[in-house]
Amino acid sequence: MAAVVLIGAQWGDEGKGKITDFLAEKADMVVRYQGGNNAGHTVVINEETYKLHLIPSGIFYPEKTCVIGNGLVIDPKVLIEELDYLEGRGVSTKNLRISSNAHVIMPYHRLLDVLEEEFKGEQKIGTTKRGIGPAYKDKASRTGIRFSDFLDPDELAKKLAYNLKEKNLIISKIYGQQELNYEDILQEYLGYAERVRPYVTDASLEVNTYLDHGSKVLFEGAQGTLLDLDHGTYPYVTSSNPVAGAACIGAGVGPTRISKVVGVVKSYTTRVGEGPFPTELSCETGELIRTRGGEFGTTTGRPRRCGWFDAVIVRYAVRISGISDFALTKLDVLTGMETLKICTGYRYKGELLTEFPQSLKTLAECEGVYEEFPGWQKDLTGISRYEDLPVEARRYVERIEELTKVPVTLLAVGPGRTQTIIRGSIF
Ligand code: IMP
Repeated sequence: MAAVVLIGAQWGDEGKGKITDFLAEKADMVVRYQGGNNAGHTVVINEETYKLHLIPSGIFYPEKTCVIGNGLVIDPKVLIEELDYLEGRGVSTKNLRISSNAHVIMPYHRLLDVLEEEFKGEQKIGTTKRGIGPAYKDKASRTGIRFSDFLDPDELAKKLAYNLKEKNLIISKIYGQQELNYEDILQEYLGYAERVRPYVTDASLEVNTYLDHGSKVLFEGAQGTLLDLDHGTYPYVTSSNPVAGAACIGAGVGPTRISKVVGVVKSYTTRVGEGPFPTELSCETGELIRTRGGEFGTTTGRPRRCGWFDAVIVRYAVRISGISDFALTKLDVLTGMETLKICTGYRYKGELLTEFPQSLKTLAECEGVYEEFPGWQKDLTGISRYEDLPVEARRYVERIEELTKVPVTLLAVGPGRTQTIIRGSIF
């Protein structure tokens, strides 16, 4: 039995799609366990680029089973668009499973995400406006609509009526906006239900059955550790738990089943949305990294904030998720830079901090303490053996390993499937 959890060890957008796709080749099943279509994964196969938001990237392997676990909030409209997009490009979706316990994103969730953000003004989170937070709010309030309800017309009608009554009051009385129409939503969602029905199942049972039979299962986290609702830079976080422990809850498996945790880390740091970012480069170097790395959101197209590699946050991610291996991505993006920096600690009011501070206010006042490294000029994108990397690139990688005490087992030097240097096995 091998169950590997793959997570983002920074603020999301670490290149998890590529690494999932790479590891999916060895796995029998790929499972997503949290988030929704706030995520965006880009996978490049034979020079074709695919962008996915909900369906696990394992779908590109026709013989693998892909699961959307109970921990997700799913917008059925987006799901259907994604199914059509894949089928339209000749990718079969017949091996997709969706948990009947996953929650449904409704039109009022999307609307409230926008209205709540506007209402927050200066305090806004910078959400993706996909209805993620409001849907998780309903889940915690125990008023959410699950896939099992969604597929039962009577339950859907009943739960929609109850929810819409409350939401329309909020929409009209608090935000002064036009109420949503019950019948329109009901008809729209009854149509969606028929399209997704064949995929819905007891996903936890299926995942556990695979594990019982000794199959290899990859759990694919979305977003990243610093966006975790409990462990991230709250309140500038998402509404779910991207950390490794959440794979158990969001897929319905026990912690004793997990054998490894792979942390995907980008060779520098990026973040979208608001909130403190100690190593941010608000200068030409940041702009250079953004342009070279194509650092624009897959979901929203927003430019990502860019900065130096921050070993403090990555060490923190190692602690929270028990990361056993790193997949270091986008090393090639740093080619051509004269000097590179790694942040090894923070300076806070004259004091040196080496652990990630609990208080957001403290973090906002931290300045990075850096080590400098000479850069390299050689193009890395065609290199397949670690030894062939320029010595400066190896020194950079090995310093990350020293600072975090985690081996870089996989190293990405380009977006393609083959542009991965393998230094050990994961499965
Ligand atoms: P939400 O998940 O749409 O509620 O957004 C909350 C925060 O998480 C915002 O700062 C978003 O920019 C960020 N976020 C959500 N999903 C992703 C992702 O996949 N990558 C990076 N940031 C994300």
